[in-house]
Amino acid sequence: MNDPIKKKLKLKVSAISEGTVIDHIPAENLFKVISILELDKTHNMITFGANLDSDKLGRKAIIKVSNQFFEDDDINRIALIAPHAKLNIIRDYEVVEKRIVEVPEQVVGIVKCFNPKCITNNEAITTSFTVLHKEPLALKCKYCEKITHEHQMVIK
Ligand code: CTP
Ligand code: ZN
Repeated sequence: MNDPIKKKLKLKVSAISEGTVIDHIPAENLFKVISILELDKTHNMITFGANLDSDKLGRKAIIKVSNQFFEDDDINRIALIAPHAKLNIIRDYEVVEKRIVEVPEQVVGIVKCFNPKCITNNEAITTSFTVLHKEPLALKCKYCEKITHEHQMVIK
């Protein structure tokens, strides 16, 4: 967006000098993203906006983390709850790189196994799945081998 007036109107959360801006998060999953990326434990400055208007998502959320940069493996953990998220890497106030999230090959935690008899639903064990199919999602449980399909997915 090059129009400076429009850009200012869009900037509902202050610009940052260094760090990562995670944009286009579905508003209802903002706090899950914070928890998955363990941003509740960081000492870096975080600003966020929720329920912002978005052309694509209806209501979106945005998170700005100063002085922190993420590995692809970490960022891909949010793919299941924020599939259209865009990461903007900021250096000296400029966007120097844009990255999208990708569904990983393995999903650890985050999702519940669909099988009520699965050990992960009955004991304190973290779920773990192999991704059989990305769109629509199909996750094979490492423990009971049952497949959880996208329409059955429940986020923990
Ligand atoms: N941003 C920021 N601090 C900066 C530069 C950018 O917080 N110093 C934020 C912007 O507010 C925006 C995001 O980073 O939310 C991406 O910036 P930019 O690419 O300039 O915006 P758009 O062109 O609107 O990006 P896109 O259409 O890719 O979402
Ligand atoms: Zn299972």
